[in-house]
Amino acid sequence: MRNIARTHQFEALEVEGEIPEVLRGTLFRTGPGVFERFGTTVHHPFEADGVVSAVRFDTAGARGAARVVESQGYLEEEEAGRYLYNSSASLLDYLRSHKSGEMKTTGNTTTFYWQDRLFALMEAGKPQEMDPETLDTLDHVDLGGVIKGAFSAHPHYVSALDTYFNFGLRYGRTMEVDLYALPAEGAASHLGSFEAPWNTIVHDFAATDKHLVFIFAPARLVIWRALTRIGGMSKLFRWTPRMGCQIVRIPLDDPERIERFELDAFWLWHTVNAFETASATVVDICAYPRLEMDFLTVDRDDAPKPHLERLILSGDRVERQRLWDVACEFPIVPDQLQGQAYDRSFFHLQRDAHFELGAYTLSTGCERSWPCPDGHEPSEPIFVPRRDAPLQGWLLSLVADTKQSRSYLAILDTERLDDGPIAKVWFDHQIPTTFHGCWVPESELAVTAPAAAE
Ligand SMILES: [Fe+2]
Repeated sequence: MRNIARTHQFEALEVEGEIPEVLRGTLFRTGPGVFERFGTTVHHPFEADGVVSAVRFDTAGARGAARVVESQGYLEEEEAGRYLYNSSASLLDYLRSHKSGEMKTTGNTTTFYWQDRLFALMEAGKPQEMDPETLDTLDHVDLGGVIKGAFSAHPHYVSALDTYFNFGLRYGRTMEVDLYALPAEGAASHLGSFEAPWNTIVHDFAATDKHLVFIFAPARLVIWRALTRIGGMSKLFRWTPRMGCQIVRIPLDDPERIERFELDAFWLWHTVNAFETASATVVDICAYPRLEMDFLTVDRDDAPKPHLERLILSGDRVERQRLWDVACEFPIVPDQLQGQAYDRSFFHLQRDAHFELGAYTLSTGCERSWPCPDGHEPSEPIFVPRRDAPLQGWLLSLVADTKQSRSYLAILDTERLDDGPIAKVWFDHQIPTTFHGCWVPESELAVTAPAAAE
């Protein structure tokens, strides 16, 4: 909950070890980075303005940048000299700024690269476009009038369709879920919308080449708190386990024909992957016993732990299975297996109080990991495929060395995770916690090629 110490354009980073010659491109990440403005600290990290960071490997070597997401709402607040949009705003300012239904797009949850454009996303707002070359903040967008309300922070790629799918929530008397398709080529489209069973938080979903799957956990929005923001984000949702979870499956070829499944209460932030079998839709998730909104600040021993679990939707039934007993979060599988059967996934792990970056192979139960040194806090690992063997490659994780107050990008070889990073690329300051990001290969990045380094 401390502001980023400094922000900057791309500048040379210090390299320890050897960066693989073929690793060319940019890792973009974002997270809450400006917690205190106008002498006030936000009540919850989700409300903090985003900082987009980037590490770029090209002919100029390794360079890094970190810039605040200066959204329209952020600039309005700068001009007013006070918060207008979050729970630190006065009730009058809060109500006035939300009259139009617009939220401030803090862009603090993920970066998303689509059709040569970079976006910083947060689930309650529209995509906030950023310049991939400079990380300058551009406008928020609705992709040609397609995005009706919000655009969530977990677009899912389905390799068989070469398309990203995403959703947006519209809160109200009932909660509506808008469905979006963003093909690799061509225009984005609104696939339809459906009514959620109750007003709640839905952070992620699952997509295959046949279905979209949503899990509604019993974290009910407390309406009067939503209207006044009293109690902030922490108290906005009430955990009501007796209601259980509702799962909604939507066929892509007929989005009106939705199916609903019921099962006992659990919580999830993230899905791992999903795929179809002859008779079922399989959805793998990181499941928690309950919601803890203060997961970033609560004592780690007290926080509920996530585990890899499988939901099998078949006929009118859903079966839930535990797959692995290690606490795992921030899952990632190679792009080419997203929406398809897969075997190995990569995670941010926690064993006792220690963090690791690791892999788990379903068919063999094989575990591989790098236990991070004490005081080193890794982010979500991002998988970068080798061109000649796309299920192998590198894991990139932005690690905060909290003793030195510096962050480094750890580069790990996925086939030798136990050896630890083959290279570390150091910022001279600490980047606050980042949630999610994306890797864009040099060949797909719409930026001007720099001059070769001397
Ligand atoms: Fe997330």
